[in-house]
Formats: sequence, structure tokens, C-alpha cells
Amino acid sequence: PLVSMTEMLNTAKEQKYAVGQFNLNNLEFTQAILQAAEEEKSPVILGVSEGAARYMGGFKLVVAMVKELMDEYGVTVPVAIHLDHGSSFESCAKAIHAGFTSVMIDGSHHPLEENIALTKKVVELAHFHGVSVEAELGRIGGQEDDLIVDDADAMYAIPSECDQLVRETGVDCFAPALGSVHGPYKGEPNLGFDRMKEVMELTGVPLVLHGGTGIPTKDIEKAISLGTAKINVNTENQIASAKAVRETLAAKPEEYDPRKYLGPARDAIKETVKGKMREFGSSGKA
Ligand code: G3H
Ligand code: ZN
Repeated sequence: PLVSMTEMLNTAKEQKYAVGQFNLNNLEFTQAILQAAEEEKSPVILGVSEGAARYMGGFKLVVAMVKELMDEYGVTVPVAIHLDHGSSFESCAKAIHAGFTSVMIDGSHHPLEENIALTKKVVELAHFHGVSVEAELGRIGGQEDDLIVDDADAMYAIPSECDQLVRETGVDCFAPALGSVHGPYKGEPNLGFDRMKEVMELTGVPLVLHGGTGIPTKDIEKAISLGTAKINVNTENQIASAKAVRETLAAKPEEYDPRKYLGPARDAIKETVKGKMREFGSSGKA
């Protein structure tokens, strides 16, 4: 069924595993991720950035596509459709009214008080509709769609501010930027685990780890032990899918039927997602 993230993440936090947020880029990503979740018996969060929604034909189309595929596949595991890095109240409202079951309001580039006011407004509307909300503090480096943060501007979240934001807004889960990066890492990631522990103890809500691509398993495990219950992955699936397309077209340069190269891409995404679900410990939990 289509559900919000609230129960999924509270259970995951309690039982010490993480639910993966896998981003949608097109039909094949959506198919692959839903099939992987059903086969792994894992809860799943479908992340949709504003740019990806635009590419696919808008929020309503995404909701319709997901609902039809869930029906077609007879999906029984809990699925959330989540707006990733929502940039404004209007964008979150639009996603909620289109049928999204969860939204992220990313006010991390605003001063704390403004971030809190904006997030609070989104929480009011979202909770009225039974929709869950994720907020962010600090700045995650790298690039995702329209969102570009220079290395110099990347910033670790401050625990006392995290506590204040969570307390004053009533968000359901929270993403403190603690050194993770969107896209591939240059070298080993340097995650701020001390602060993560502090933020977990102060806020009590399930924590979210963005930039899940390229984080070593030992760091994933440590993050989960410190209250991380949601891990976002996009680039890793994009890389797997692009590799499959390249290999297929290199082996058969005359091929032109998209099904012949996007089919293998879909298989590659599905295998990647299944691997992540096992690594995050969410397999078999639905
Ligand atoms: O919000 C989405 C992500 O944080 C994905 O990050 O592309 O580095 O896996 P990634
Ligand atoms: Zn992110």
C-alpha cells in the first residue's frame, strides 16, 4: 500500500535498520525499484526531486504511474512517494495535492529561524493530509538536479539547532548534513558520527542520510546504530543503469530499439536496489 514514511521509519529506527529512498528518473527506475522492494519484502521510499518530476511529466503523472505499477505488480510492501529536496511551500503543497504521501522541505540554505518557519508551515499542511515531512539543516555538498553546493559551502549541522528545529516544527524525520555528499565522493567520506549521536539523543526522531552512494558498509552500519533510519540513494542506480546501456550498445552498435538497452538498464537498477536493501537491513521487514 501507499503510506507515509512515519510508521516505516519509526519501526526501522526501533529495530535498527534503514529504509532506502531510491530516486525515480523514469519509468524503468520506477519499475525496477518497486519490483526489487516486492521481491525483497522490503518497505521502500520512492524519492522524486522537482527536476525528475518535471522530466517525467509532473507530480500527478508520477503518482498515477506509481499507483498503476503497484496495482499491476500486486505490490504488498509499504511504499511512500516522497518529494526529495522540496524547495518551497508551494512545491510541497503541489506534491501533497497530487497525492504524494511524504515531502521533504529543504530550507537548509535559509537562516535557522526562516528554515523553522517554512518547515512549520509545511508540517501543518502535510499532517492535515496525513503526509510525513523531512527537514534538513546544514548543507550537503555536491550536486543533485537544481541543487548545487560547493565544497566550500558544505556545512555540518549544529546539534543544538537541530534540536530546536525538530522541537519547534514537529517534523517526522530529520536530515542533518554531516559530511555526506550528493554524487560520487572524492576519496573516503568523512561523516560526523559524534554529532550524529548528539542529534539522535537530542531530537529522538529517525535520522536521514543523504548522499548514500559510495558510503562504505561500515559507515552505513555505524549510521544505523546511531539512529539513521532512512538512506537516500540515486547516483549509484544511475551509474548502474548507464553502464548497462553502454555495454549493451557497445556489444550491439546497430541496436536501436530502446527496450533492448533500457531493459538491461532496468535489470541493473533492480539488482543494485536489492543489494542496498540487504545492506540497509530492510529486506524481509515488510
Ligand atoms: O536526495 C537524494 C540523495 O541524497 C541521493 O544521493 O545521488 O549521492 O546517492 P546520491
Ligand atoms: Zn539528498
